Amino acid sequence: MKIIENAEKLNEYRGGALVPTMGALHEGHASLIRAGAASGRPVLVTIFVNPTQFGPNEDFARYPRTLDADLKIAEAAGASAVFIPTVESMYPNGLANAASHAAQFSLPAIATTPLLEDAIRPTHFGGVCLVVSRLFDLCEPSLAFFGEKDFQQLRVITQMVEENSSRWKSLKIIPCVTIREPDGLAMSSRNRYLDPSQRTSALGISRALQSAANYSSVAAGEKSMRETLDRHGLETQYAVIRSETTLCAPESGAKFARALIAAKLGEIRLIDNASVGISFING
Ligand code: PAJ
Repeated sequence: MKIIENAEKLNEYRGGALVPTMGALHEGHASLIRAGAASGRPVLVTIFVNPTQFGPNEDFARYPRTLDADLKIAEAAGASAVFIPTVESMYPNGLANAASHAAQFSLPAIATTPLLEDAIRPTHFGGVCLVVSRLFDLCEPSLAFFGEKDFQQLRVITQMVEENSSRWKSLKIIPCVTIREPDGLAMSSRNRYLDPSQRTSALGISRALQSAANYSSVAAGEKSMRETLDRHGLETQYAVIRSETTLCAPESGAKFARALIAAKLGEIRLIDNASVGISFING
């Protein structure tokens, strides 16, 4: 497995499978890398803790950085190369000017209207689109793998690529299912911040998502999720059931909807989501 620090060395991975990450790799990331390898194309993993997607009071400075372990995980999962860019190569005009780069294209509607992550982290998707579009331009992949764990991010990136199809002509976004711990907690780089009692409380999130599936109306499902989160001592930011495509209210007639949760345990913020069946749609 090659380690690439200079973007000029990316040529041989053009047309390959791209797996963008911020490092602190776990089984969730490894599943994306394995899916990339299964495509038969060379897999380029990127590791870059992107400053522009963190708000001023978020955890950029203390985001876990575990490069040695990351390289082992990437190699074992089948990566051909890992690209570890510098801030300067990702933002050649300087971080201070990064926002003006974002103005080069308008954010997809799904980054601003569902009032989910976008409402709580108003500058987040601007930074995500900025860094992901730069990676697409530099790496020119034909496939790029993203996890459903960050469901709104997956939809934002999918819509950004659809709306800029002449810029990234043959690029396909491949969604990958959420990988969980045996007890149901969605794997996340931020789980390592949890102390043992918070780790137990965090289970309330996957339990809340499961509970939503037992009700036959959106309102009842959402109420059950909020109650489950409360019972586990989690502070709910949102616990909603939305359309899988627009992330706004579910359309009548759709077969599935998404239950989505963001909740806090002290300073630690966790998100998760799950598909729920048709019984909600007319409720
Ligand atoms: P990061 O949080 O490192 O996640 C990288 C990719 O791994 C994302 O596509 C994410 O959805 C996926 N992922 C995380 N946990 C997962 C799990 N439990 N199961 C399956 N997939 C999982 O998301 C980012 O980085 C950044 O925003 C990035 C897209 C790299 C842009 O900076």
